[in-house]
Amino acid sequence: MAYNTIQTRTEGRVGVITLNRPEALNALCDELTGELTEALAQFESDDDIGCVVLTGSKKSFAAGADIKELQGRNAVDLYLNDPFAKSWESVARFRKPILAAVSGYALGGGCEIAMMCDFIIASDTAKFGQPEINLGVMPGAGGTQRLPRAIGKAKAMDLCLTGRMMDAEEAERAGLVARIVPADELLEVALQAAETIASKSLVVAMQTKEAINRSYEMTLDEGIRWERRVFQSQFNLEDQKEGMAAFAEKRSPHFKHR
Ligand code: CAA
Repeated sequence: MAYNTIQTRTEGRVGVITLNRPEALNALCDELTGELTEALAQFESDDDIGCVVLTGSKKSFAAGADIKELQGRNAVDLYLNDPFAKSWESVARFRKPILAAVSGYALGGGCEIAMMCDFIIASDTAKFGQPEINLGVMPGAGGTQRLPRAIGKAKAMDLCLTGRMMDAEEAERAGLVARIVPADELLEVALQAAETIASKSLVVAMQTKEAINRSYEMTLDEGIRWERRVFQSQFNLEDQKEGMAAFAEKRSPHFKHR
């Protein structure tokens, strides 16, 4: 599939989506988010894909919503068309595991899209921020909701109210980032992590992701009950039989994703 603003490829069972608008530091224009939505739908429906890596360039993961495109929009247009719900949230709605490999700027919508992924691996050059307040607006694609859940109220307030950026080390300390790696190794490390995930049972990986995401929506008691029911149901899977047999027989499991 040929796209204008992203590139896609597969490496074994891993799908890679690279944001590719270098002239605008990968600002998230409608065309880009539309293509991203389409690429995710393709990978979601492809049985041979077990995990996706979403990345940008060395200089910029994404510098936010396309300000030049947003500038001319009005409240009614945004409300009726609801572009963030329609296309951007396709990242959050993606059911298979998806990692963000972030180098350089992840600002505004760029930070929000990275937070919609299951976890972030950052290069030591990554910079995160929600600078929308400098533009006379606040974050509009989850920044005020996902950021405090990831890093706590104090730092989320600091970032959203001052518009300052935080570097990779601060982001890791705060819990936004799972790992930091040297910039030159970012894609390799992200691909290795994605390959590892894609080698597991896809059903179990998807249910694990869903269970962790449910922990943000449910009470602890309901969440634990829900987790236990899904765990119990996994004993219907061929992959559970294979995984436990492989352990007992001291060999690697060969999962069939069913
Ligand atoms: N939208 C549109 N174009 C952008 C852009 C954006 N978010 N970010 C950068 N660009 C463009 C610049 O306009 C510039 O284009 P021209 O060469 O045609 O002038 C090109 O990318 C390179 O940018 P800079 O010259 O500014 O590069 P820099 O290295 O000096 O600065 C930067 C980099 C600090 C990231 C700076 O570009 C910047 O502050 N960008 C805007 C960041 C921002 O405010 N993001 C939030 C957007 S709003 C949002 O995301 C709302 C939401 O919640 C959904």
